[in-house]
Order: sequence, then C-alpha cells, then structure tokens
Amino acid sequence: MDKTASYNDTVVRQFTIMTVIWGIVGMLVGLIIAAQLMWPALNFDLPFLTYSRLRPLHTNAVIFAFGGSALFATSYYVVQRTCHVRLAFDKLASFTFWGWQVIIVLAAITLPLGITQSKEYAELEWPIDLLIAVVWVAYAIVFFSTVAKRRVKHIYVANWFYGAFIITVAVLHIFNNLAIPVTLTKSYQIYTGVVDAMMQWWYGHNAVGFFLTAGFLGMMYYFVPKQAGRPVYSYRLSVVHFWSLIAVYMWAGPHHLHYTSLPDWAQTLGMVFSVVLLAPSWGGMINGIMTLSGAWHKLRSDPIIKFMIVALSFYGMSTFEGPMMSIKTVNALSHYTEWTIGHVHSGALGWVAMMTIGSVYCLLPRLYNKEGMYSTKLIDVHFWTSTIGVVLYAVSMWIAGIGEGLMSRQINADGTLTYAFVEILASKYPYYGMRLIGGVVFFAGMIIMAYNVWKTIANEKPASVAVMEPA
Ligand code: HEM
Ligand code: HEM
Repeated sequence: MDKTASYNDTVVRQFTIMTVIWGIVGMLVGLIIAAQLMWPALNFDLPFLTYSRLRPLHTNAVIFAFGGSALFATSYYVVQRTCHVRLAFDKLASFTFWGWQVIIVLAAITLPLGITQSKEYAELEWPIDLLIAVVWVAYAIVFFSTVAKRRVKHIYVANWFYGAFIITVAVLHIFNNLAIPVTLTKSYQIYTGVVDAMMQWWYGHNAVGFFLTAGFLGMMYYFVPKQAGRPVYSYRLSVVHFWSLIAVYMWAGPHHLHYTSLPDWAQTLGMVFSVVLLAPSWGGMINGIMTLSGAWHKLRSDPIIKFMIVALSFYGMSTFEGPMMSIKTVNALSHYTEWTIGHVHSGALGWVAMMTIGSVYCLLPRLYNKEGMYSTKLIDVHFWTSTIGVVLYAVSMWIAGIGEGLMSRQINADGTLTYAFVEILASKYPYYGMRLIGGVVFFAGMIIMAYNVWKTIANEKPASVAVMEPA
C-alpha cells in the first residue's frame, strides 16, 4: 500500500503554504518599520501606521504566523512519518489550522488599532488569548494522541523537541496572560511591579527558548538527516542535548532584567544559567552540522543543505553571543542598543527563517508528490539572497549597537556626557540604511521562494516512487 495515502497531509499542506505567505507579510512589515526608523514621516501621521503599532505587528507576524505555521506544518508531518501512523483526529487538526489563521487575522486587526496588553510578544488582548489557549490545547491533543498510537516503540528525538515546545508554550502562555478583563478590548494583568516583569521575561525568554529554538530543533533533527541522507551524527548526544537544553533554558529569563529592581541574586542566577546554556546549545549545533559527515560534498551541489548548515551556523553564533550578552558587565553596554536587535535577527533570520526555508524546500515536493522543487537554481539564488541579507542586517546592527553603547558611556573630564542622545542617533543612520538593504535582499529571496513554490505545485509531472517514500 502507498503509505503516503494514509497520512493526513492536507493540514500539512495548508500550514506550509501559509508559512510562505505569512513569512512574506511579516517581513514586509519588518521592512516598513526599518524604513520608518530612517524616515519617521513614513507613518503619514496615521495612527495605525505608527512605528509603535507596526513593530508588534511585525514580531507577532514573523514569530507566531510565520514561525508558528512552520512549526505546525513540520510537526504534523514529522510525527506521522516517525510514528508510522496517521495524524489523530482529522477534524481537530483542521480546527488548529483555521483557529490559528483566525488568531493571526485578529492580531493583524487589533494591533494596528492599538489594542494591546503592552507585554512584549504577548500583546494580544484576552479574548484572543483565550482562543490561543483553546487552539493550543487542540494542537497538544492531536500531537500527543498521534505519538500515543504510534506503530513503532521508539519516539524519535524530533518529537521530543516538538513535544517540549508544545507543552511549555501552553504553560508560558496561560500563566503570563492571567488578567482581569475590564472590557472586550482591555484587561489588567494580575501581576504587578517587579513580579509582572519577572513573569513577562520568564515567558519572553522561554518564548525564544521553546518557540524559536526547541521547535526548530525538532525540525532540524528530522530534515537535516533527511536531506543529507545520513543518520543523526550522535543519537546519544541528541538525548543529552534535549534534557540539558530544556532544564537550563527555564532559568535564564532574568538576563532580560539586569540592573532593574529585580533582586540582585535573581539577576545573577539568570546570568549563570545563560552562560551554562552555551553547552547544550552548541551540543545541538555540533550534532546537526556533524550529521553531514560523509556527505560534505552535498554542500557544493545541494542548496537546501546549504540553507540548513548556514542556519545551524547562525544558531551557533547567536547562542554564543546570547550567553556573552547575559554577563552583567557586557549587558551594561549592549542593553538598550542595536546590538540586541543584531542578536535577535542573527537568531531569527539566520537560524529560524533559514531552517524553515530549507525544511520547506525539502518538504514541499514530497507533500505535492513532485520529483523535486521546480527550480534548484532559484533555491540557490534564494540561498545567497538570504545569506547576504542576514549578514548585512546583523553586521550593521552590531556596529551601530556597539558604537551606540560606547558613545553613551563616554564621559568628559568634568563628568558630563560627551554625546547627546541625538548625536548618538545620528551616528546610527548609515547602519539603519545598511540594515534596510539587508532586509530588502532577504525579502527578495522570499518572493523568489513564493514563485518557486507556486511553480512546483502547478507542475504537472508527478514524482517517481523514490520521492514519495516516507521516512
Ligand atoms: C526582512 C526581514 C526583517 C526585517 C527587515 C526586520 C526588521 C525589524 C525591525 C526594524 C525591528 C525593530 C528594531 C528596533 O526596534 O530597533 C525588528 C524587531 C524584531 N524582529 Fe524583525 N525583521 C525581519 C525579520 C524577522 C524575522 C524573520 C523574525 C523572527 C523569526 C524577526 C523577529 C523580530 C523580533 C523578535 C523583534 C523585536 C526585537 C527586540 O525587541 O529586541 N524579524 N525587526
Ligand atoms: C544560549 C542562548 C541564548 C542566550 C543565553 C541569549 C541571551 C540573550 C540576552 C542576554 C539578550 C539581551 C537581553 C537584554 O539586554 O534585554 C537577548 C535578547 C534576545 N534574544 Fe537571545 N539569547 C540566546 C539565543 C537566542 C536565539 C537562538 C534567539 C532567536 C532565535 C534569541 C532571540 C532573542 C530575542 C528576540 C531577544 C530580544 C528580547 C527583547 O528584549 O525583546 N536569542 N538574548
């Protein structure tokens, strides 16, 4: 029997297509706010176009719409292939797709209207939060029920990462959003003062750790071996990697609150756990990159592998940089500067987006029963636009940020500040331009991807059996 016929790939296809679409939308908003930082008049004096409203629209669109759709798509695909069983509950799976899309549309309406809880990455107001909780529980039921009815004894490591991501995000989301509703569009957090800040960054950091990291590591553990045609370099390392990563991530949140009214011991605790986090992070990176052992030649000919290896390299870079930035004395310089933005996007564009793009290119022909993507040449062009784009973005923000940090602490002999705020701002302008160019180049690659995806789906020629073969 053709095993692929017994899998539920409809929902995977839906989420995969939306990954590409939301990627384009979210990055376009990123470009607009990057341009607004250079030319503030681009808000045209319209409230819904102000920077403060579009910035959360960007972060929500790229993290939850683009990243979220990619995680739904790949987790549903991977759990079926590695458990050798069809996804549980077709209707519930379909509900997660439509529910998630409704949430995204509601976010796209409410955020420009200025309806917000004012908590970073948790801006959405309580009715939408409730809907997120419902959809997420449905997601957990579908995913874990599929694991439970698996036909193989073993639970492949990718599912451990996806599973941890699903459980943790549920816990984070529910506890960080506990609030008392006042009207349909306004609520007050139950936490106050420093407790609120602590909850927020426990959530915020673990959103990075579980949404933007653990889930994508699940993706990495399936698609890198698949595309390389090699087994995972060390299965034992992957298990150590999993437990150490999830155990350590939970405690690192206070590095976002250095030099605040959070008790000093808690800040130091966050710093220490963040530095320790380097080890499991690099364990994962090494495991991913070394999976290519014996297949290094593919780096010359396969642009999908190039996407994945560069993504892993950026993962390594950002998880080296993060622990450094969490050291209090370093954070005294980096906090409030563009350096943070450089760090964010080396992780977000370099790791998250490039791993997603590579995985979608690997997945799509299999989903639509095609020999391969329509054009390998275009994947290669996309690879270069992404790589050049992210390098321009990250490097410009690093230079701007470190310069900004150094200028703001420069003191004259009489104890006064050497540079006024506006002078520091002016020094960043050329780098804002460079970042915008980097963003445009990265974005151009996404348009090429959309074209390639469309042509692949429209292609009449079906695949040979080899491509359809499941894991
Ligand atoms: C074309 C691509 C992109 C461009 C041009 C872009 C641009 C921007 C800009 C201008 C900001 C505001 C920076 C500031 O306030 O100083 C920002 C923030 C942010 N972006 Fe992007 N972005 C892009 C892609 C992405 C992607 C793919 C992700 C995630 C997967 C992402 C995640 C974020 C996050 C989390 C922040 C908030 C950072 C913070 O608060 O420290 N961005 N982006
Ligand atoms: C070992 C891993 C990591 C550590 C220890 C770490 C540490 C840090 C530190 C110290 C900051 C600056 C906090 C501040 O001054 O306010 C930061 C900000 C940030 N990092 Fe990381 N990072 C790591 C990996 C990553 C990765 C892989 C990503 C993305 C995929 C990422 C995304 C972010 C974001 C979005 C922020 C900005 C948060 C905000 O202020 O809005 N980090 N990280």
